[in-house]
Amino acid sequence: MIDINEYFKPVLTFLEDFFDRQEFDIVFVLGSGFSESLDFLDYKLKINYTDIAELPDTSVFGHKGVLTYGEYKNKKILSFHGRFHYYEGHSMKYVLFPAVAANYFKTKSFILTNAAGGINQYFAPGDLMICKSFAGFNIKNELSDFFSRITLEQKNKFLQFPDEQLNKIILNAALKSNIHLKEGVYWYNKGPCYETPAEVQMARILGADAVGMSTVPEAYFAAVSNIPVCAISCITNYAAGISTTKLNHEEVHEQAMLIKDKIRALFTTIITDI
Ligand code: HPA
Repeated sequence: MIDINEYFKPVLTFLEDFFDRQEFDIVFVLGSGFSESLDFLDYKLKINYTDIAELPDTSVFGHKGVLTYGEYKNKKILSFHGRFHYYEGHSMKYVLFPAVAANYFKTKSFILTNAAGGINQYFAPGDLMICKSFAGFNIKNELSDFFSRITLEQKNKFLQFPDEQLNKIILNAALKSNIHLKEGVYWYNKGPCYETPAEVQMARILGADAVGMSTVPEAYFAAVSNIPVCAISCITNYAAGISTTKLNHEEVHEQAMLIKDKIRALFTTIITDI
């Protein structure tokens, strides 16, 4: 078993010195297209992932690979602009790194974002969805290396995802900002390929509203580590077979860029209210 908190301790101690602090109000993980929507922060520091010992670079288009510390309305915010995906072949420990950092820095709110394909017939590209739960097959298997002595209490912790209080703040922030935030179940596909239309039909029948290839491992680690966590998806496309057009990553990125003002408005209110 790997004690992942111990494994990353030297890196986190380095970051603690670099950012000159050990507590943050919010830690964000910004998936495809979300990065630009936090451009209103007063950025104090930026560091490339490649300049942080141990971390590999991100290779997916739209994932910058930059860690920033910024402030807004007295809130101290650490943001991961870009993530390491399991489907890119990264070891699960790198996928979990933002959650390990959120734990080390005693963050009060951990907000995960991602791009997802819409399955629910009432969802369209450009919608935002707050994840009310996750589903998928064998989601948790890859995490067993880090939790071989998982306690009964930890086993039940994930069932409390998302954090109720944090979700309420986000739903209220959406109301205030005049944004219709959908609620739904995120289906986790480990990748590396997008889904087949048949898989999307199966996920729909099993209750999924959207599908994506990230977020769940970090959310799981955070929930088990007692960090208030939630996840927001940007519906960037109709999932395979829901529409007749073929899916590609550029389309996913472009759609997220189109609604960056909406995401920015939502983030501004969330940060103010948290
Ligand atoms: N499937 C999986 N991941 C995704 C999708 C999708 O349709 N859209 C954006 N990320």
